[in-house]
Amino acid sequence: MMERFPDNSRMNVHGHPTRTIAPLPDLSGVSIIDQTRLPFHYERVTLHALADAAEAISVMRVRGAPLIGATAAYGVALALNEGIELDRACTLLAATRPTAVNLAWALARMKSALAHLKTSEQRGAAWAEAAAICDEDVALNRALGEHGAGLIRVIAEMKPGPVNILTHCNAGWLAAVDWGTAIAPIYAAHAAGIPLHVWVDETRPRNQGASLTAWELKQHGVPYTVIADNAGGHLMQRGQVDLCIVGTDRTAANGDVANKIGTYLKALAAHDNGVPFYVALPGPTIDWTLDSGAAIPIEERRGDEVSHVFGETEAGEVLRVRLTPEGSACANPAFDVTPARLVSGLITERGICPASRAGLLGLYPERHS
Ligand code: MRU
Repeated sequence: MMERFPDNSRMNVHGHPTRTIAPLPDLSGVSIIDQTRLPFHYERVTLHALADAAEAISVMRVRGAPLIGATAAYGVALALNEGIELDRACTLLAATRPTAVNLAWALARMKSALAHLKTSEQRGAAWAEAAAICDEDVALNRALGEHGAGLIRVIAEMKPGPVNILTHCNAGWLAAVDWGTAIAPIYAAHAAGIPLHVWVDETRPRNQGASLTAWELKQHGVPYTVIADNAGGHLMQRGQVDLCIVGTDRTAANGDVANKIGTYLKALAAHDNGVPFYVALPGPTIDWTLDSGAAIPIEERRGDEVSHVFGETEAGEVLRVRLTPEGSACANPAFDVTPARLVSGLITERGICPASRAGLLGLYPERHS
């Protein structure tokens, strides 16, 4: 069963339909939201050069698998504006973050669209291809949102009151060009009038749930409650979670999924408590070259993301403070792998399938080798 997004249900920021990334009209730059400033300040900044795009991905001004891919595609277009050669630009961008396969996917697609062209033709074609990647991302996420909302509808019809959905990290509008992945079904269900409420994991160390998911759900008027990362298991034991939906940065061909660190623990708790655990992803997030999640590269980020946090004082000043004894060693693996056996199903733009090679091939038969 699918739920249709009403035509007027675009993502709004301060009441206006908005995309997370957009080229300037004269193609001299690319406008993004600086996500490192949220939820305290909503600020759009312009990327003017390849180095700006690479820096924005590395320091996570933009983040989330689909948006990383879209930014890399525009990074190539910016590089060609500067006269930087295609392969050099792709090599630099590919090194920014290792786990989200959408990055490598977008760069491979840019290369195949541009490599055979004359240098004089590449620039215009790069801007057009990056825009096509963004438009497709919107369409894929809209479709997967409609499929996922059908799932929420089924649960809503079986119980009184709102459907309580737990999500981890930010796999919403801010992680994509529009709609998001894990949050797209929630937006579609909300637009269809299905009563729901979202448990938002704070998502240490960078707090993408508390800072980003909470911010965008608030903008869109979706009821939510932020919880400490460790609260999810307890809520599941008490019957207060009807469904988990998370995103993924890379799904192996056997249905194993890499997602933000802590996802695996939520999947274990969901399994133990009989709570359905779904993963939402657009096709470009599937890595058909990997037989299992064990081979997915896991990003290790700086320890100071664990030892320090950002927050706003009562006076409105945004400060960075230390949590640990000075000089403490901190480890910061940014993603983990949830085995397919803990995943109830994969929500894609083509429908919902079991988390298995057979399930994925059922939806993507062109991948049969
Ligand atoms: O480190 P981040 O913030 O880029 O991690 C993002 C996630 O883990 C998301 O869940 C994933 O990219 C899916 S986004 C639609």
